[in-house]
Amino acid sequence: MNQQPQVAIVMGSDSDWPVLRAAALTLKDFGIAYEARVLSAHRTPDAAIAYAAAAAGRGIRVLIAAAGGAAHLAGVMAAKSELPVLGVPMPSKHLQGLDSLLSTVQMPGGIPVATFAIGEAGATNAALFAVSVLALSDAGLAKMLTDFCLRQSEKVLAKTLPDLP
Ligand code: RP5
Repeated sequence: MNQQPQVAIVMGSDSDWPVLRAAALTLKDFGIAYEARVLSAHRTPDAAIAYAAAAAGRGIRVLIAAAGGAAHLAGVMAAKSELPVLGVPMPSKHLQGLDSLLSTVQMPGGIPVATFAIGEAGATNAALFAVSVLALSDAGLAKMLTDFCLRQSEKVLAKTLPDLP
């Protein structure tokens, strides 16, 4: 996208991207310009801090931060930026993302991270939450969100179940 990105999606590793694609696709569906970056709280701490500190000044309005295992990326973003930080815990090899969830959600008071579900549902919902934040000052986007919710409800109500044999 050529527009100025309004949302940043940062992730601890490129191995997180298959899950984070759900966030990117959702933002794209709403026509929201985003940028996606790999940044690690542990492997690239200085770059992660510099990115968070500069994000608002570059026009970013919401930060989506995803990491797995000892998942400190969202916390680092929130420590260095006053933008809304939406944390998405990644599924992990040994603890199925429970480690990521607890690392992301258990922030100390004063450093808020809004934490979403583990995996694709969390990635999608973080993107939808970013849409709803941006929709507060964009009536067109608010209408798109309302239409999305209506379509989603209609799809569920249209479902039928097979008869028993
Ligand atoms: C975290 O470690 C990343 O966010 C990823 O979920 C996990 C594993 O990273 P890789 O070893 O696949 O690069 O920092």
